[in-house]
Amino acid sequence: MKKSIVLKTAIPGPRSQELGRARQSAVPRGPYNITPVFMARGEGAMLEDVDGNRFIDFAGGIGVLNAGHAPKEVVRAIQQQAEKYIHSCFHVTMNEPYVRLAETMNRITPGSFAKKTLFVNSGAEAVENAVKVARNFTRRSGIICFEDAFHGRTLLAMSLTSKVHPYKDHFGPYAPEVHRMPFSYCYRCPWGKRYPGCNIECGTFLEDFFKRYVDPTTVAALVVEPILGEGGFVMPPQEYYPILVNLCRKHDILVIADEVQTGFGRTGRMFACEHWGIEPDILVTSKSIAAGLPLAAVTGRAEIMDAPEEGSLGGTFGGNPVACAAALAAIDLIEKQNLTEKAARMGEKVRERFEGLWKKCSCIGNVRGAGAMRAIEFVKDRATKEPAKELVNRITRLCYERGLIVIGAGTYGNVIRTLMPLVITEDQLEEGLDVLEGAILESAQALQPASVETRPPAPIAPRPGGDDVSVV
Ligand SMILES: Cc1ncc(COP(=O)(O)O)c(C=O)c1O
Repeated sequence: MKKSIVLKTAIPGPRSQELGRARQSAVPRGPYNITPVFMARGEGAMLEDVDGNRFIDFAGGIGVLNAGHAPKEVVRAIQQQAEKYIHSCFHVTMNEPYVRLAETMNRITPGSFAKKTLFVNSGAEAVENAVKVARNFTRRSGIICFEDAFHGRTLLAMSLTSKVHPYKDHFGPYAPEVHRMPFSYCYRCPWGKRYPGCNIECGTFLEDFFKRYVDPTTVAALVVEPILGEGGFVMPPQEYYPILVNLCRKHDILVIADEVQTGFGRTGRMFACEHWGIEPDILVTSKSIAAGLPLAAVTGRAEIMDAPEEGSLGGTFGGNPVACAAALAAIDLIEKQNLTEKAARMGEKVRERFEGLWKKCSCIGNVRGAGAMRAIEFVKDRATKEPAKELVNRITRLCYERGLIVIGAGTYGNVIRTLMPLVITEDQLEEGLDVLEGAILESAQALQPASVETRPPAPIAPRPGGDDVSVV
């Protein structure tokens, strides 16, 4: 097996340390840094730092690089567009890449109805615009969101985000008319139930919510990540979304799916909604849309998207032609290379490895996910499920010191997630998983002797796509 990881210095190396000192004095501490290294170059799933160390990337810049680092086709599209013009401002003189990309988004997103797409600059901005459109169309103001959700850091997006520290504390007051209900988190079921004998109370609860918390006639939209991203890759059972969507339809409430992290093939489908066969009224995308250039899209039913009047939506940079050209090339690459199917196959390998680890380590409470979006939830004790955040910090540090970039997630910070570029080679995937497995086994043993569990993980939910096994 050809090795991709090459470590020439201790991590961080001298040049990264030097830049780190400059970063400390020139940049506020607010923007956190998971690893202490500075990037010099990237190719596919390989990332090289400024000291010449080569890492395998299981983070993809937090789910942005489904098409890999600097894919040739995307680089060429960026160069060609930049040589012609870099900016037009869609409101002044229009640009063709914007319109072509809108056509592409309307084609590839779930739902056979007529759609229209608006482009903005970031996931948070797209969420904000989806809510603006929904409020304008329905002439209602209420928004329902979920516990453990993450929708971004701007005022409304932050208000929709659940986790308090570090995203929300001391940043209030928050946007009003935001109503939060528990999510379908089987491993930590808010109702203390166990699937499938739970009657999907997390879904039917919405009807109760309308009686106890908010009048449905005042609610414009329900905003949901089909699979929680920052919340720890929590994936509801098959019945969940059809129940929620039907209740929303009954009360004329729009469904906004935030697929910023789940989109563009990551879960083994082009969009995660497809696992449940649901068609949201508005779909929000960003991250992997343009292989790393800042871009986000709001795609929705044409009549809904056309509700706000001329001049009421947009921004200076939204739908920048270079970013749109990059997105057209990135989506073309994802489609032509069948990266969606590859994500499903790759996910099987990751799932097998994670389930194997579950059998060996009592500190692993739950393994879950879909396609290449996989997670391990760590606990101090399987019976109490007390979150083991320190363990995740230790594992991620060990990994990057050994040449694998991997990141955590979860409201309790006790989840490790995989967001590797989907173009990763089989050898790179195996090598990266070997490093991750080694770091988990070693860290688990340092805390307490690993208890070997021989019983296979009990499936708690027949997951959409049939590719997930969860453990309670
Ligand atoms: C599901 C989801 N929505 C919204 C956002 C916010 O995106 P951005 O950081 O581009 O504003 C994120 C970012 O992680 C996300 O995962």
